Amino acid sequence: SPVIAKTPAEFRAACEAARRSGANVGFVPTMGALHAGHLALVAKARELVGSKHTEGHTEGHIEGQGAAPPFIVVSIFVNPTQFGPNEDFVAYPRDFLSDVEKLSGLGVDLVFAPEATAMYPEGEQTRVRVQRLTEPLCGAFRPGHFEGVTTVVAKLFALSGPCVAVFGKKDYQQLAVLKKMVRDLFLPIELVGHPIVREVDGLALSSRNAYLSSTERERALGLSRGLRAAWNAFEGGERNAAVLREHAHREVQAVADRIDYVEVVDPDELSAFESPIARKGRALLAIACHVGRTRLIDNVVLGED
Ligand code: PAJ
Repeated sequence: SPVIAKTPAEFRAACEAARRSGANVGFVPTMGALHAGHLALVAKARELVGSKHTEGHTEGHIEGQGAAPPFIVVSIFVNPTQFGPNEDFVAYPRDFLSDVEKLSGLGVDLVFAPEATAMYPEGEQTRVRVQRLTEPLCGAFRPGHFEGVTTVVAKLFALSGPCVAVFGKKDYQQLAVLKKMVRDLFLPIELVGHPIVREVDGLALSSRNAYLSSTERERALGLSRGLRAAWNAFEGGERNAAVLREHAHREVQAVADRIDYVEVVDPDELSAFESPIARKGRALLAIACHVGRTRLIDNVVLGED
């Protein structure tokens, strides 16, 4: 089972030692309450940095070449700075022992599980902020959220050092924002996106699904149903963003207590299309809404997924 690092210094030292011994580091940051979506990211990280013996042929490329063993790290930290004052920081599900148990089956080498005071010690006053990409979609409804995410992930990367880090496309805007941060700050990190992992009935896995009652769980299917309706229309040749949005909106409207947004946007800029969708060939359809007290998000990239 994995070694548990509690302090930033231990985490940094373990990653440095692994790299010194020739390993490639694969890193999956999480807030715990692990489900099959998280575990798929861990398997992907292993696959990306895992040793693939290519008989002395080394390209110096970090992905899977050469005989370097993998060193797989998962962080579990419910990051207080990414929760708004009226959000679920206190209620957020925490189950450290069962998380570690899930990870030990997957060949995870290290779990980093710091205290909040270790990540944000007395007197800290630094934040990392990505500008334009954090303004639309969730950024408009969760002020300060992405600043909390980029700040904690920058701290995690400062400690991990060079690695391949895997993030889910479930949080599409988060992945886009983090890619921008890595690029803008010249961080020595290779970011890889992983497809959304869903239940067989279509519901995207989320730690927050634990909040849903069984009737809310039924209603939550309206999100994936909406995505599918728009996807079908897109496959049928529909390229009008407003019409595609309406297909999804209808389904979400029918189940949600409150809709934050249902939007069809440019998948790179995350803002309204300036030219017809057809020009780019791809469009992000993103949904955020509330079912009962639970905020749910989901998305699909039309023309790609
Ligand atoms: P958390 O919500 O725990 O998610 C950790 C990672 O798992 C993220 O990259 C997220 O996109 C991915 N993930 C969650 N559900 C998924 C699903 N159904 N399919 C595929 N991937 C999924 O995202 C965070 O934590 C935090 O913001 C964090 C990046 C750790 C910073 O605090």
